[in-house]
Amino acid sequence: MTKIVGVIGNPIEHSMSPAMHNAAFLKMGVDFVYLAFRVTDLKGAVKGMRALGIRGYNVTIPFKVDVMKHLDEVDPLACKIGAVNTVVNDGGVLTGYNTDCSGAVSALEGKIRLKGKKVMVLGAGGAARAVAFGVADKGADVVVVNRSPQKGMELTEDVNQYFKGRANFVPFDGLADGVMDDFDVLVNTTSVGMYPDVSKSPVKKGILKKGLVVMDVVYNPIETRLLSDAKSVGCVTIKGIEMFVNQGALAFELFIGKKAPKDVMRDAVLKMLPV
Ligand code: ATR
Repeated sequence: MTKIVGVIGNPIEHSMSPAMHNAAFLKMGVDFVYLAFRVTDLKGAVKGMRALGIRGYNVTIPFKVDVMKHLDEVDPLACKIGAVNTVVNDGGVLTGYNTDCSGAVSALEGKIRLKGKKVMVLGAGGAARAVAFGVADKGADVVVVNRSPQKGMELTEDVNQYFKGRANFVPFDGLADGVMDDFDVLVNTTSVGMYPDVSKSPVKKGILKKGLVVMDVVYNPIETRLLSDAKSVGCVTIKGIEMFVNQGALAFELFIGKKAPKDVMRDAVLKMLPV
């Protein structure tokens, strides 16, 4: 009777998702098991998922974009973002979602109502796409800041294609003092500050201001240099683990159809991270 869910990616050995989801299944007393699959043949893996009746899986690097062409349906916002991180198998019909996006948005909306606000997104990779589309969809204006202008401008154009006039681009070296004055939210989606480079921050402390909501997508370490700088100047901070747990909780709810035990999931991740 046991149902299987999991995560596909490559590499996948260090994924924290199995521990996080299996802890939730145990807590909820549901007969599910979550496994990590290192995949080299994506098409074959999706076919196998249908054949074996696997209930669903999360999708991570490098398959978040490519998996879409193998699915039957894609949620409209995930379609705009151009990436899927959760696939649900309903009787052989595979539907893709982007819970990175909804996970980021709900972490932010726990602290600030996004409608009409101004959000700076650092980075232009997969995580940045999820955040930029998510906040634009909630009615916020987005400024994308990226090291390589080309990639930053592409994301800006993509957001504007669906949310006209909502997005702008600023190069990283354009971040002078006072640049945050009319911003409400700053989200770091770059890997700057991630273990082992824990002393690094993507921005100078001097540009942060009291009351700004600052979220970091990096969750190892739990409190990044950016977040400790932000806390020290009186910003409202949101840790990367919140977005990670939220994306997992939303995937859990899509797989199981029950509310996820978020505290249990967060504790399972915290146990795996160095203090
Ligand atoms: P993810 O899917 O996790 O978002 P990604 O697609 O590799 O990861 O994107 C990483 C982002 O972090 C990119 O926007 C990258 O900037 P470039 O487009 O210029 O490569 C940004 N990034 C990574 N290391 C950085 C650094 N040291 N300084 C500034 N930006 C950095």
